[in-house]
Amino acid sequence: MEKIIDESKQGEALVLEKKKENTRKLFIESYGCAMNFSDSEIVASILTNEGFNTTQHLEEADLVLVNTCSIRDKAEQTVRKRLEKYNAVKRDHNPKMKVGVLGCMAERLKTKFLEEEKIVDLVVGPDAYKDLPNLLAEVDEGRDAINVILSKEETYGDISPVRLNSNGVTAFVSITRGCDNMCTFCVVPFTRGRERSRNPQSIIEEVNDLWNKGYKEITLLGQNVDSYLWYGGGLKKDFAKASDMQKATSVGFSNLLELCAKDQPKMRIRFSTSNPQDLTIDVVETMAKYNNICNHIHLPVQSGSNRILKAMNRLHTREEYMELIDNIRQIIPNCAISQDMIVGFPTETENDHKDTISLMNYVKYNFGYMFTYSERPGTMAGRNMEDDVPEPVKKRRLQDIVDLQREHSEIKTKEWLNTTVEVLIEKESKKSNIQWSGRTPQNIVCVFPKEDYKIGDFVNVKVTNCTSATLIGEPIGLSENN
Ligand code: SAH
Ligand code: F3S
Repeated sequence: MEKIIDESKQGEALVLEKKKENTRKLFIESYGCAMNFSDSEIVASILTNEGFNTTQHLEEADLVLVNTCSIRDKAEQTVRKRLEKYNAVKRDHNPKMKVGVLGCMAERLKTKFLEEEKIVDLVVGPDAYKDLPNLLAEVDEGRDAINVILSKEETYGDISPVRLNSNGVTAFVSITRGCDNMCTFCVVPFTRGRERSRNPQSIIEEVNDLWNKGYKEITLLGQNVDSYLWYGGGLKKDFAKASDMQKATSVGFSNLLELCAKDQPKMRIRFSTSNPQDLTIDVVETMAKYNNICNHIHLPVQSGSNRILKAMNRLHTREEYMELIDNIRQIIPNCAISQDMIVGFPTETENDHKDTISLMNYVKYNFGYMFTYSERPGTMAGRNMEDDVPEPVKKRRLQDIVDLQREHSEIKTKEWLNTTVEVLIEKESKKSNIQWSGRTPQNIVCVFPKEDYKIGDFVNVKVTNCTSATLIGEPIGLSENN
């Protein structure tokens, strides 16, 4: 199952094809969300032009970059351990090595790394990657370098990302940056700044380019994709001040989906993440209209309790969320729906927790990502609310919902038994080298015998068996999408 935070990918060292004339070696590692992995591709693209080739061997790197995540304390601790490791390698093997921190922790901890802890040479926030060549020049001259300025315009729309460790079939395309939602638990609005959208023309060009290179599936990425709005540039919050002409020619998320779907009718299109308060029915209708837009919506709800939703500043009620689910199911009966959930938000009671469970029973999600609340300094909840749910209670509640989700995933996966599904082959199955692994439009992993099929083929597969999260089947033939 593809995860938004793919644990198997966390910390993967990314490599790309080498350029002969490049002499310096870059080791780049990423943690956190898909946006970070996508950003690392932009960073690698910028540094390829600065004389760097990527390496998988930390010991030989001239420059080590870690793209960091601040979403929960655990994510930050993992990165801190890696920084200790880099410094040990630097001390013992490679004193010339330079270490840099990118991404959300760069923004959150700014000068602390450079001045107090002195464990890095370079700190670069998510909107400052184009400044990397200047910052590296500073570092080369023996000075620390930092740029954590958040931008109102930067979308990296003009940079063509190099694809790191790609399967050559699926790719991320970022469409918005930042977030204006201010959920009270979330650090993203502070680390990634205000929300802005990328020029649709540059998005379409990237999608076309990917198709020409053989890619078969893209995921449009943003913290809140439904909020996408292009009116010639500028912040989402300034749209009210736009001219009548700008307003009349603006492009919203459903328009963008339609543009992509029409331009590349055989390319599978996914998107992530949706926010219930911004997902409008026209998006669901556009999904229904185009076969190549995959029938899956990742629709985090965080809690099933109206009181907690309010305290989280999620701008909808459980009833409105349930109505949205009903509408999605009415328009697209076989649409997969997945969730993110937080247990143990401050003041959460057993009754609130029961509301979460009853919401899950109502929706029966296909899959989900569940977390215990982690207080983030600087957020509204961090400043104004005591983290008062004891750790053992958080853990138990998490186990309750993880177990329930497993039951639901199993029920939902079994619904596909004896049907025929279209699978896009991505790679060899992890468990068997005589089987392919790919996903259905609903984002369910399906494995089947390789026969003569190859990576990148769309194959119709008859589902004969399944585990709780994986379909097992027999290929029938290429689908008409090839
Ligand atoms: N809009 C984003 C969501 C960002 S974070 C996206 O594109 O995915 C991903 C998930 O992490 C959230 O949906 C939430 O469930 C979880 N999360 C965020 N902040 C958290 C915190 N302080 N403690 C625990 N979980 C958190
Ligand atoms: Fe975070 Fe809420 Fe935005 S979870 S990324 S503030 S939609």
